[in-house]
Amino acid sequence: MTMYMASPAREGKKLNDVIFQAGAKVQAAIAAYGKERVVNGTLGAFADDEGNVACIPTVETLFRSMDMRDFICYAPPVGLPAYRDAVLKAAFADQRPDAYVAAVASAGGTGAVHMAIANYSDVGDYVLTTDWRWDAYGALCSEIGRNLTTFPLFDDTRHFHVAALEKKVSELCRQQDSLLLILNTPAHNPTGFALSEADWDAVLAIACKEAAQGKRISILVDIAYIDYAGEKNDVRRFMKKFSSLPDKVFVMLAFSMSKGYTMYGQRAGALVGISANTSVIDEFNDVVLYSARAAWSNINRGAMTLLTTIQNDAALCRQFEAERHAFYETIRRRAAVFMTEAKECQLAALPYQSGFFISIPAKNSALVCDKLADSLIFAGPLAMGVRFAVCSVSERKMKGVASAMKQAFIAAGE
Ligand SMILES: Cc1ncc(COP(=O)(O)O)c(C=O)c1O
Repeated sequence: MTMYMASPAREGKKLNDVIFQAGAKVQAAIAAYGKERVVNGTLGAFADDEGNVACIPTVETLFRSMDMRDFICYAPPVGLPAYRDAVLKAAFADQRPDAYVAAVASAGGTGAVHMAIANYSDVGDYVLTTDWRWDAYGALCSEIGRNLTTFPLFDDTRHFHVAALEKKVSELCRQQDSLLLILNTPAHNPTGFALSEADWDAVLAIACKEAAQGKRISILVDIAYIDYAGEKNDVRRFMKKFSSLPDKVFVMLAFSMSKGYTMYGQRAGALVGISANTSVIDEFNDVVLYSARAAWSNINRGAMTLLTTIQNDAALCRQFEAERHAFYETIRRRAAVFMTEAKECQLAALPYQSGFFISIPAKNSALVCDKLADSLIFAGPLAMGVRFAVCSVSERKMKGVASAMKQAFIAAGE
């Protein structure tokens, strides 16, 4: 007899992880046809040309040389003090805003998003993000009693849809006292899009307008992929705009070591708070520490030491950044093959600028992915389209993927 032990409140909490399922199909194809014949565009990690997840060499050398105690000892729930400083260096580079800032350690970028939702939205409220989005935002909200709602990322000209954002923010602010907006930029997952400086001016103007009417507006910038978006200061220039904002506009960054330091499984990140008002940062330190203690207590000490070591040694940091830049250039070349071929065969890929993924809108993405799998090419079927991981497929294997995808779209009747 089936038994139900979980609380009734947990009814329906079942994760439908389409990317994980797509990954299982890849493994089955590799077992049947061999690795060489399979194109794995489902993997959300940088892979070398043989398809193996790659580690930045300096990260590997440092990690292997660390003292055992760096792995086994506890750390404070807010993070090691030197790590908190190193996160600020890494997150802002030379674009630190003229404001009070603080960083609290989190279990990856996911943990940072969790802490932002838990502390800067109310139970039952809506949290706003873009329609094309990282799927986990939905579960991160519903797990703690928030609702995720969206606005279209793109307008008809495939630019950032400022008007839709403004309308949605205004609607939500008539319903609730505060609003948390999550923007994943630059190198957005799953489209590779980035907000321009003008887009940022528009976002902040909308936030300031609502704040002037008494609303508390928090903006979480998810920078999980920022280290694969271009020259570090160029891609961070928007951060300077977070200087001297009104007290009721609070900006946070979700910092992650997963992609930027190839430490996906080590679960290290931080939530960074930015405010013109020192009491907002004091409160941030208190409430976010509380969340960290209650969720995971403290995070991976070895990863924290690694970040600190790299950030505090200029020569090592230059070497590390050069190695990471080579990964970025590899992804750029792979993406260029796809986008050039997509243009040639009129595959309507969304405007990709940088990052791990390219997306193509589809009505029935699961069917398109099934048709694509007939050519042993695997992609992620998202609600709004097909996601292809340019981070994990070699330039050689990338040739012909766009046209195969075009054929799959035709075969699926799109
Ligand atoms: C958009 C986005 N944000 C945040 C994360 C968080 O990653 P992690 O928790 O591994 O740091 C990911 C990971 O895939 C992501 O795609």
